[in-house]
Amino acid sequence: MSATFTRFDHSQADDWCKIDAHFRDYREGIVERVINHLLRLEGDTHGYPVDRYIHCLQTATRAERAGADEEIIVCALLHDIGDDLAPDNHAEIAAAILEPFIDPYNVWMIRHHELFQGYHYRHFYGLDRHARDAFRDHPAYARTVRFCDEWDQTSFDPDYDTLPLEHFRPVLERVLGRPPFEGAGLPDVRSE
Ligand SMILES: [Fe+2]
Repeated sequence: MSATFTRFDHSQADDWCKIDAHFRDYREGIVERVINHLLRLEGDTHGYPVDRYIHCLQTATRAERAGADEEIIVCALLHDIGDDLAPDNHAEIAAAILEPFIDPYNVWMIRHHELFQGYHYRHFYGLDRHARDAFRDHPAYARTVRFCDEWDQTSFDPDYDTLPLEHFRPVLERVLGRPPFEGAGLPDVRSE
């Protein structure tokens, strides 16, 4: 069942009920779509010792073994998922995917992890490795430093005992299965 309008200003409530039903079904598949995209990071290492897929799994593995909570583990798993689509601002992709489902400070952490991670290499490019210090007073500063220093920048080790993707599927399903924006999204047109 599809909507019958050809332009929005001709649409009726019934059209949006049909579209809403499709959207709800489509949203159910978010975990599989995210996983499929994560798998696209497999293969090319771009000169690093491991590919981005292993790097993401390893970052999540280290976070989990350090006792990080579920949101942080999912952040670790997805933080570089935008590397292929947005190589110059990839952090925005993971932040946008997770923003409806997680704490805003964790979104901030993911959005800024590129700059914070840069502490470990920016000086090799003639850039200020301490640029992240500008955010020292931000409430998410400490967690972002920890994320990068303890789990992200350390996760390029091909010999590390990295957990497989299937291990993380349940936690991914739990976090992405939350009501988006705590349910405060579009109104449910079916009840109108
Ligand atoms: Fe990373």
